[in-house]
Amino acid sequence: MSTPTPPPPPLSARPSAAPQSAVTAPKAQNTGTDPTSRLLLGRTLRFEHHPFHDAPETAAQINTAGGVLIQSGRIAAVGDGAALRAAHPQAELIDYGQGVIMAGFVDAHVHFPQTAMIASWGKRLIDWLNTYTFPEEMRFADPAYANEIAARYLDLTAAHGTTTVASFCTSHPASAEALFAQAGARGQAVVAGKTAMDRNAPEDLRDTPQRAYDESKALIGKWHGRGRAVYAITPRFSPTSTPAQLEAMGALWAEHPTCLMQTHLSEQLDEIAWVRELYPSARDYLDTYETHGLLGARGLYGHAIHLEPRERARLREAGGALVHCPTSNTFIGSGLFDMAGLMAEGQRIGLATDTGGGSSFSMLRTMAAAYEIGQLRGTPLHAAQLMWLATCGSAEVLHLGGEIGNLAAGMAADLVVLDLASTPAIAQRAAQADEIWEEIFATIMMGDDRAVTDTWINGQRVNGNAV
Ligand code: GUN
Ligand code: ZN
Repeated sequence: MSTPTPPPPPLSARPSAAPQSAVTAPKAQNTGTDPTSRLLLGRTLRFEHHPFHDAPETAAQINTAGGVLIQSGRIAAVGDGAALRAAHPQAELIDYGQGVIMAGFVDAHVHFPQTAMIASWGKRLIDWLNTYTFPEEMRFADPAYANEIAARYLDLTAAHGTTTVASFCTSHPASAEALFAQAGARGQAVVAGKTAMDRNAPEDLRDTPQRAYDESKALIGKWHGRGRAVYAITPRFSPTSTPAQLEAMGALWAEHPTCLMQTHLSEQLDEIAWVRELYPSARDYLDTYETHGLLGARGLYGHAIHLEPRERARLREAGGALVHCPTSNTFIGSGLFDMAGLMAEGQRIGLATDTGGGSSFSMLRTMAAAYEIGQLRGTPLHAAQLMWLATCGSAEVLHLGGEIGNLAAGMAADLVVLDLASTPAIAQRAAQADEIWEEIFATIMMGDDRAVTDTWINGQRVNGNAV
């Protein structure tokens, strides 16, 4: 149950209401005597019910005077702030006041190598790939560049409150090495894989079925399960793989069933028509994956906009997860994902930026776009549903639901602290809110990295806004 919220303080009492005032993270109020124990005070938000299956207004418990105790990188307790303070006097205290403390955002489909070419103008999917994406991805032949972009990408996403991503890399194994190494150095959970492509791409980006198999297998051996790393077998999409390569990726997945598998599905109508030409005997797009051993509960299917009834039925039976990429779907002109219909029929769904087809690194902007697409389909999403998708929902599709995506004792201390009055425009709207979801919704629709007071990864304060 959400607890009633007292009326917000007047604007003048809110530090972030001042024009252009950067929200500075609070300093610890005492140093405590236990350096491994920290108590964060603020408004804590944790999901207790599924906001698409139960009433969204009451899906989360919001404690207006809550606390999160962090010990050794994990959440040790979530509860009443004063009670936790009394029970743990030795813990370092960090008081976020009216800040909302919740699970860090989980971005379930990104392309970190597209960081530097985000917001490239005017093309639809296939032209966009050929004109902007593949030339940029070719630069990742240089491991130093791969490292530079991996670090830049993780800094940018942390500044936006994102604590875990599932990323496509390029076809160069060094690109996956770079992301795993950078995430590992930050103690950060990451899902990633070398992208397999053996046709319809520049020669320098193409591998072969055997090379994709060998290189992916070597990366699995080195990284899968190392620290917080999860390997995702990553055939880019059916147009850039021969049937032989999809077969090889399916065989690899069968040998390593704890790996995830990520790809693209039914994003644009031209793409679907092309898949029909390339795979004339396939029943539909999903069938190109299904017949090659690439449909399963650990499969992540990005976009999934223009699905046939058979594809929907098979995805649900197999438990494969769909990943909604709303800023990308409007930016590249792909179409309107059927969130309400797909949720109602029991699909598993996560939310993602799809950087750099998506136009933002921010999961707040991504939630706003998901809301707008819902409106265009006549099914607006509640703020609780948007926040759930960006945390619990995405964590569950990555099969990391027990580890990240919510506030609960035992889970990783991967957190975001949101300022719900981060700009004058948002502050004046929030001041008029009658209840907390209305206040949160203003930040969802109008917020960006300025709304992120702090990001915590693995119990460490990342201070993402310093980027
Ligand atoms: N389909 C195949 N590759 C890509 C990609 O990089 N971005 C998007 N949005 N769709 C794809
Ligand atoms: Zn993608």
